[in-house]
Amino acid sequence: MLPDRVTAALRTAARPVCAYVYDTATLRATAAAVRAALPPSATLLYAVKANGHCAVVRTLAAATDGLEVASGGELALAVAAGARRIAFGGPAKTPAELSGAVAAGATVNVESVLELRRLVRAAAGRPVRVALRVNRAGAAPSGSHHMTGTATPFGLDEADLGAAVAVARAAAGVDLVGFHLHAVSNSLDPAGYAAFVHAAVAWSVSAAAAHGVDLREVNVGGGFGIDYVGGGSFDVAGLGALPAQPPLVFELGRYLAADAGWYAAEVLDLKRTHGRWFAVLRGGTHHFRLPAAWGYSHPFEVLPLPWAEPLPDRPSVRGVEVDAVGELCTPRDVLTRGQPVGELRVGDVLVFPRTGAYGWDISHHDFLRHPPPEVLIL
Ligand SMILES: Cc1ncc(COP(=O)(O)O)c(C=O)c1O
Repeated sequence: MLPDRVTAALRTAARPVCAYVYDTATLRATAAAVRAALPPSATLLYAVKANGHCAVVRTLAAATDGLEVASGGELALAVAAGARRIAFGGPAKTPAELSGAVAAGATVNVESVLELRRLVRAAAGRPVRVALRVNRAGAAPSGSHHMTGTATPFGLDEADLGAAVAVARAAAGVDLVGFHLHAVSNSLDPAGYAAFVHAAVAWSVSAAAAHGVDLREVNVGGGFGIDYVGGGSFDVAGLGALPAQPPLVFELGRYLAADAGWYAAEVLDLKRTHGRWFAVLRGGTHHFRLPAAWGYSHPFEVLPLPWAEPLPDRPSVRGVEVDAVGELCTPRDVLTRGQPVGELRVGDVLVFPRTGAYGWDISHHDFLRHPPPEVLIL
């Protein structure tokens, strides 16, 4: 069921409808629910990469402890949003970005010994908090996109930890506060995730002791997941009691933003070719690329709208399965395959819920130069 406030907003959109709706109340409620499931000593950050719309960033900067950013552009967004705390990650930071992170008072999640040397040079004696991102030998929890326990460009190999600690220790102004151990995306297994957190803390305590680090932070990254097809979500209550010390840092993107977004696209045409029905949309994967990138069908709901065109016939289908396809000239522009519909008419709108994270932000907007969606903020 679509919330009334979402359908009301979409009824005000220009025709043919093509819009993202972002609901700030849902952002706040989700952040509060996550916060309640974490130890009071933990820091909850929002990973801006999931959705960098300024209203989303501003809302979550206020509803969480701060923001995780992964570029100079996101850093500027976080500063503009008044984030109380900023963590700067990402595997390819430039000297200029590192200097900007120091100026913003960010904690830098350092990804290599060379990057740490660059940071020391960019800081030029100014104080900077540093967490070393480590690609540990241990396995990651279940989910997609494993970033640790396997060969990836992210973080230091454990074998390089001693060298990195030595560089940090020798540099005036660098405060090495702990480790950054982001491991996975889209986990739907809270018990497995909790086991990962306990293992991350145990590893951090022993690595800190071995290298003489005063451990004040274990950043476990993001990764709470959304089951787009099944409709479920990572159950935060299933995390159980997590360690209170050393303080944990979470930087969640998908879980905080996904349920606060709806992508809506009007049906411009209905056609049947070779026995298959297609709903052709004013929109597509250049606005919402996730289903094409991950190879799944994103469910939609039908919002019936009045027929707005001065044409005699309004094509419609009833009781069939349709593919929801976009306006791009490629057969890969598919959001959903074979979803059954009751009645669907040209001029109705397909609304795709749970599209507030990694929707617009990961899509190839300029391909074919169609106009962007309207953005409606509730
Ligand atoms: C370093 C880091 N932190 C946090 C996140 C956010 O992850 P998620 O959206 O799965 O919570 C990501 C996602 O790629 C990341 O790379």
